[in-house]
Amino acid sequence: MKMKIAITGKGGVGKTTFTAILSRLYASDGYRVLAVDADPDANLALALGFPEEMMEKMAPIAEMKNLVTERTNSIPGSFGKMFKMNPKVDDIPDRYCTEYKNVKLLTMGTVDTGGSGCICPENVLLKRLTSHLILRNKDVVIMDMEAGIEHLGRGTAQGVDALIVVVEPGARSLQTYEKVKKLGRDIGITKTLVVGNKIRDEKDEEYILSKVDKDKCLGFIRYSQDIVDSDRSGMSPFDYCKETVEEVKKVKSKLLSL
Ligand SMILES: Nc1ncnc2c1ncn2[C@@H]1O[C@H](COP(=O)(O)OP(=O)(O)OP(=O)(O)O)[C@@H](O)[C@H]1O
Ligand SMILES: [Mg+2]
Repeated sequence: MKMKIAITGKGGVGKTTFTAILSRLYASDGYRVLAVDADPDANLALALGFPEEMMEKMAPIAEMKNLVTERTNSIPGSFGKMFKMNPKVDDIPDRYCTEYKNVKLLTMGTVDTGGSGCICPENVLLKRLTSHLILRNKDVVIMDMEAGIEHLGRGTAQGVDALIVVVEPGARSLQTYEKVKKLGRDIGITKTLVVGNKIRDEKDEEYILSKVDKDKCLGFIRYSQDIVDSDRSGMSPFDYCKETVEEVKKVKSKLLSL
């Protein structure tokens, strides 16, 4: 099996928490896992349990000016100039990621140029990086996306096999799910799956099931005080929240069947 997935959803629903647990689970099954932090407000490293010394040394791809320049043949900061639209990217994951507990982490960084569909060297490199990653067998790429839907316009997640939308039992996150489904289809992603998070009781599950395509629902993750505590103490939920990890395991096995 090889797979590329992007985790999306409204702000604060639990995308990063879910991405981190799922990544660590695949890694412990012996998969080569590439976790991609595609949120400008990057915090996946923390959720994966990376030690502080490692986090301090990590640089986001978009900020590696030399890399961007070299790959796109561009002049830094120049607009409207010519640059390569098909930069070489296949070696980037191995060369520029940081590895901890068998999870390789790549931080994309912010492209601060305004305009969501902007064509600048950084965006071209980031977009190509995800859509043209050649996966080998037992490779899993999991992207933790920015909250909301703007990134779908930019196409950073183009080429993924599936979008997983994390929702909470509330109307607003389900509205985001609907938009993700539509915009995903627009960029050619037909598989949009759902995970319900912060579930307190059966009514929460029923509510979510009444709003989504039932056969696209991967399962539910309960509201957990351990998750809250792990976040507060800077611990990875994978190492700290046994029950949630079990729930994500079930989601993961369902993912194989959909
Ligand atoms: N199952 C859960 N039970 C309790 N708290 C949770 C659960 N899942 C996530 N949280 C908490 O919700 C908050 C947001 O989680 P997280 O950072 O994973 O969300 P996000 O969708 O990545 O947010 P953002 O949109 O800011 O990137 C955190 O404080 C986290 O600890
Ligand atoms: Mg997040």
